[in-house]
Amino acid sequence: MIRQKGNRVRYVIDRMTMSDVPRVIEIERLAYPSTWPPSAYRKELQDNRWAHYIVLRDKHILEEQVSASQESERLRKNRPFPLSLLPGRPIALAPSPDLASIIGFSGLWLMVDEAHVTTIAMHPEHRGHGLGEFLLVSLIDISYNIGAKWVTLEVRVSNHTAQNLYRKYGFREAGVRHRYYSDNQEDALIMWTDEINSPAYKQKFLALKAALFQRLETE
Ligand SMILES: CC(C)(COP(=O)(O)OP(=O)(O)OC[C@H]1O[C@@H](n2cnc3c(N)ncnc32)[C@H](O)[C@@H]1OP(=O)(O)O)[C@@H](O)C(=O)NCCC(=O)NCCS
Repeated sequence: MIRQKGNRVRYVIDRMTMSDVPRVIEIERLAYPSTWPPSAYRKELQDNRWAHYIVLRDKHILEEQVSASQESERLRKNRPFPLSLLPGRPIALAPSPDLASIIGFSGLWLMVDEAHVTTIAMHPEHRGHGLGEFLLVSLIDISYNIGAKWVTLEVRVSNHTAQNLYRKYGFREAGVRHRYYSDNQEDALIMWTDEINSPAYKQKFLALKAALFQRLETE
């Protein structure tokens, strides 16, 4: 959880639930050239005990949505009778403020003692503020908690933004999976961390995490 000025909670990581999936799919469509079928999320969340999926919420969005809908209701009630009986002027609200507050998501599978990152995506409007990094930090924290020794992932050879993020957290190239992505036959780089419990990795991770939290708390 990240608190900002006035001790107000701003960013919160929650475990992904089935009710989050429509918003997750919306963000996934904006983030990836091809997407998972909705049933894949159901399987991951309900049937895969080795899967860990999270969502990142911006509580400011939640507060803004709630106050916009309260304002609309107040304006409707203040209209002279019988107009007050009509529905308020439609405002651009998401189906649920709680869903609209989700701005990113990510997940991993534990395979024996390896954490395999399966997805990580930020809504395009919220990129470049350290929040994709917050998702990765949260996945590495989960990896520690579930007893993983290494974290690994595949990334498109053309995805330099994601590769920079991973390199920042000590991921290194360990090979290539040729034509791994079926939409354009692109190769994937396979990346691995060093053992995350090694003192060197832990120290680096904790220092990066502290710097990130300070950035997110003061921005
Ligand atoms: C990859 C992704 C999650 C990064 O999220 P983000 O919120 O934009 O990134 P952050 O602001 O947290 O940046 C973290 C690091 O990523 C790298 N990065 C971010 N934006 C970058 C850019 N435009 N160019 C190069 N590197 C960039 C930097 O290393 C940055 O660290 P720095 O701030 O110290 O420079 C986001 O771009 C995304 O959702 N992309 C689409 C989905 C995707 O490609 N997922 C990865 C699949 S393997």
